[in-house]
Amino acid sequence: MEKLEVLITEEQLRSGVGELAERINRDYNGEELLVVGILRGAFVFLADLVRRLTMPVVIDFVAVSSYGDDTQSSGVVRILKDLDESIAGRHVLLVEDIIDTGLTLKYLYENLKARHPASLKVCTLLDKPSRRLVDFNPDYAGFTIPDYFVVGYGLDCGQRYRNLPMVCVIRQEQEGCPPSQDESSRGEVHE
Ligand code: IMP
Repeated sequence: MEKLEVLITEEQLRSGVGELAERINRDYNGEELLVVGILRGAFVFLADLVRRLTMPVVIDFVAVSSYGDDTQSSGVVRILKDLDESIAGRHVLLVEDIIDTGLTLKYLYENLKARHPASLKVCTLLDKPSRRLVDFNPDYAGFTIPDYFVVGYGLDCGQRYRNLPMVCVIRQEQEGCPPSQDESSRGEVHE
């Protein structure tokens, strides 16, 4: 673990996810919700979030890949696994692990919107607004973080670290993982 530094603890994640769930419960007021997780990174967050939702919930997943290297989004998104459910006329909540440039979600949002859901909202665990290349803002965001490359709680680097129970910053260069060097803004995490 010496190359990793904890940015968001298990306890902070628990309370942040709880607050998001409370807001979502209030906003949908008992209406059935189709929760769509974006694989693979959102699986841990989604599992914790849906267990705190009180309305009837149906769960589906979509898998996407963006062309480009592993750590830089290129904006060209491919759907690797489409939804099993039809979303027409349903209330859909798209659940993502992190919004970085915004390119992946903007593409997916527009793709799903064209299928005529009754409503479509986006919930992300983490948001890195300083990296945004397109105008895209989530309806719900758990934590706003600086421009760090983070792993854990579903997020990976080279498919590793998804199982960590907390969110960590990579501090030393590792194969395929950009080190986070912005020491000046360390710790600036906003719920
Ligand atoms: P975007 O299209 O640039 O917003 O990229 C979103 C996707 O990039 C996320 O779903 C993650 O898979 C990946 N990503 C962006 N930042 C990080 C990070 O700090 N750690 C791990 N994956 C990241």
